[in-house]
Amino acid sequence: MRIRKAVIPAAGLGTRFLPATKASPKEMLPVVDKPVIQYVMEEAVAAGIEAVLIITGRGKEAIENHFDVSFELEQVLKERGKEAELAIVRDIASMVEVSYTRQREALGLGHAIMCARNWAGGEPFAVFLGDDIVRSATPCIRQMMDVFEQKHATVLGVMDVPREDTRKYGIVAGSPAGERLLAVSDIVEKPKPEDAPSNTAVIGRYILTPAIFEELEKTGRDASGEIQLTNAIRSLLARERVFAYRFAGRRYDTGDRLGFLQATVETALTRPDLKEPFAAYLRRIVGEMG
Ligand code: UTP
Repeated sequence: MRIRKAVIPAAGLGTRFLPATKASPKEMLPVVDKPVIQYVMEEAVAAGIEAVLIITGRGKEAIENHFDVSFELEQVLKERGKEAELAIVRDIASMVEVSYTRQREALGLGHAIMCARNWAGGEPFAVFLGDDIVRSATPCIRQMMDVFEQKHATVLGVMDVPREDTRKYGIVAGSPAGERLLAVSDIVEKPKPEDAPSNTAVIGRYILTPAIFEELEKTGRDASGEIQLTNAIRSLLARERVFAYRFAGRRYDTGDRLGFLQATVETALTRPDLKEPFAAYLRRIVGEMG
């Protein structure tokens, strides 16, 4: 079976990025000149995803407006003959079929995914966290879709992180099952470095089978009051195989201040229009202020 659908949870409160996220969604923060969630959407489209469900919440209306037609703006650009800008604005609204649903309370990533149950309609689906950008030659989710098409099982996008960072991620244990591939035997949410079963961390890309919904229903809230996707995947392990794939590419957690800055600097350095002057500026300023 092919993966056609993707869910982008974007209802989180973004407490790590206050005050910017007080009244603006973190998914709309610009990396150079594009909101984070547009990079995510472009990855989905490049991988061949046909329909996207964005999980939103209060204060996230800017996301819906961004992927909608902007009639007034298009009119003004047309009148002024700004063809290039017009194309940019129009392309965003016609990227892919987008639907929205609201998570009424930010009760965690697992709870956000549960909001997609009816929409998923019993199909396996991809999940992109709305604040995780991955830069790669082949879209990260495409790499994972290729694994899914062979294994017909849940696939988690993973990367190795420094030991001291395990408390920021879901961490997997597993045995080698092919190139870049692990057969997962355990998964733990945000373990302390001394308790972590490895330093292989789950990032914001998943391919999930519909069985996850039954496991999420049974997953209680954790100590922080949230329903964790990691805990549902852990119970899924008792009934289905789960794989972890070490994707090729660079991942940025833009919901974190340092991650956001890294995404900004590295993206600017890949842009033909900015690369040279920006690199020259960085060299000079690091010498002066660094
Ligand atoms: P994060 O772990 O980054 O949490 O969520 P957060 O609440 O958004 O941000 P911080 O940690 O307070 O700064 C990972 C992804 O899951 C979504 C977020 O929008 C983000 O894309 N999410 C999280 C939801 O959709 N709902 C939730 O209840 C929690």
